[in-house]
Amino acid sequence: MVDVFDLTIIGSGPGGYVCAIRAAQLGMKVAVVEQNPTFGGTCLNVGCIPSKALLYASEMFEQAGHNFDKLGIDIDGPRLNLPQMMIHKDDVVSANTSGIAFLFKKNKITSFEGLGSIEKAGKVLVTAKDGKTQSIDTKNIVIATGSVSTDLPNIKIDEEKIVSSTGALKLSKVPQNLVVIGAGVIGLELGSVWARLGAKVTVVEYLDRILPGMDADIAKQFMRMLKKQGFDFKLATKVTNIEKTSKGLSITTEAAAGGEQQNIEADVALVAIGRKPNVTGLGLDKIGVEISERGQVKIDSSYKTNIDGIYAIGDVVEGPMLAHKASDEGVVLAEKLAGHTAHVNYGVIPGVVYTSPEIASVGKTEEELKEQGIAYKVGKFPFMGNGRAKAMLAADGFVKILADATTDRVLGGHILGHNAGEMIHEIAVLMEFSGSSEDLALTCHAHPTMSEAVREAALALGDGAIHI
Ligand code: FAD
Ligand code: NAI
Repeated sequence: MVDVFDLTIIGSGPGGYVCAIRAAQLGMKVAVVEQNPTFGGTCLNVGCIPSKALLYASEMFEQAGHNFDKLGIDIDGPRLNLPQMMIHKDDVVSANTSGIAFLFKKNKITSFEGLGSIEKAGKVLVTAKDGKTQSIDTKNIVIATGSVSTDLPNIKIDEEKIVSSTGALKLSKVPQNLVVIGAGVIGLELGSVWARLGAKVTVVEYLDRILPGMDADIAKQFMRMLKKQGFDFKLATKVTNIEKTSKGLSITTEAAAGGEQQNIEADVALVAIGRKPNVTGLGLDKIGVEISERGQVKIDSSYKTNIDGIYAIGDVVEGPMLAHKASDEGVVLAEKLAGHTAHVNYGVIPGVVYTSPEIASVGKTEEELKEQGIAYKVGKFPFMGNGRAKAMLAADGFVKILADATTDRVLGGHILGHNAGEMIHEIAVLMEFSGSSEDLALTCHAHPTMSEAVREAALALGDGAIHI
């Protein structure tokens, strides 16, 4: 008798592995196909987790070098042990990826190592590295194959001198000069890691601002902070060529609109201009799964492709390329397949940039509200007016809350500050309950916490903030 799975998921990133676990919990017989030897996808292996391990370690290094004396802790300047920092990162990655292997076993999920392709609805072929193939019979298939970094035309990534985020997570020494191409999330997070460890970082960005898509107020103030941290910015500029020289790299730039060429010398260039959906090797064209102009697998509101029994979630479909968005889609899809009612609220997906300070955002930006012609009011509160922030030398930044001008319903929240990524969730929960800024302002907040600044921003929308 042939084993027939209820669900076969191709890809074990935060979309695929979470979908697998939830489906197994709901009683389905689940298989996961992963081409890599470890589970967890981009996020656990070369994304969220290793980058946060290096961001934490480099921030500690920076703090020990610059802030301890202010706190009355005199130490000789810290010395960098980069190999040990990389061991810390690798240990964190393997603890997390082996955690997924444990959860798969616990939930009786069958895994197959190899490249998955779809022969037709109901049949997945797994090709191992040695060329051996296995066929899986399955009632449903989920494409959770994630994304890969976008290349710059004519520029070849070697992951040593010209790197993507993957190479930037394992440089063997601190570059003297690092050029980051793209002032998005990856460029600013990984640029921060190497700047803190001693690199001179120059960011070349095509647009005339950093972090497109984030609230412009926050991005503007954050850019000033990054300049203080030693970053150089070349906005409205494009890279046209990178040449390898005896000294390192010669990077040619020109104004985005065209014009005179300039050269920047660097020893490493990080290309971080976005990521694109990954459908390589799946054989989707052969079976006729529809792909959008942007390369995303097309789905309906139940994550179903145009072919019955084939679904897709995560970075490979439309929406923000975020781990928690992929995971939420995985849970909802598993629940829908089990006959439950479930949905993802795409209006309330937080986004965090894990720099120093952090940036966290949920809901609409001020620019979006303007574009959509929604009448809104703004409540702002600076961390300068917050006692706990001052005690922790973290008084930079502010909280900004946007609420409907008539109903007071909170439409968006944006925080620039230490631990913003933790604080954003009270605004997210409030928005899930369609709460108003008054609800937030009436909620007692523990003192002294940085979250009091969130309440003060809500107060600023009504009766007025106290500590300003
Ligand atoms: P992925 O995690 O990309 O997983 C896809 C998996 O499918 C991979 O394991 C791949 O090997 C496998 N696969 C692909 N094709 C096949 C095939 N044909 N057969 C078998 N297996 C296949 N997001 C956040 O929310 N927070 C962060 O802090 C964050 N930091 C990031 C930092 C970096 C440097 C990068 C690059 C990304 C970061 N992201 C972050 C984005 C996050 O990693 C992605 O949004 C998330 O991993 C998407 O999950 P996914 O399951 O859709 O795909
Ligand atoms: P991004 O989309 O965040 O930023 C890319 C930047 O490159 C943009 O500012 C864009 O204008 C610029 N750009 C594009 N083409 C260019 C060119 N030719 N020259 C110069 N600049 C150019 O993409 P990024 O940083 O690569 O990250 C990819 C994805 O990974 C993001 O969508 C993000 O969601 C996810 N990610 C999330 C993280 C988090 O949640 N903390 C951390 C890292 C990545």
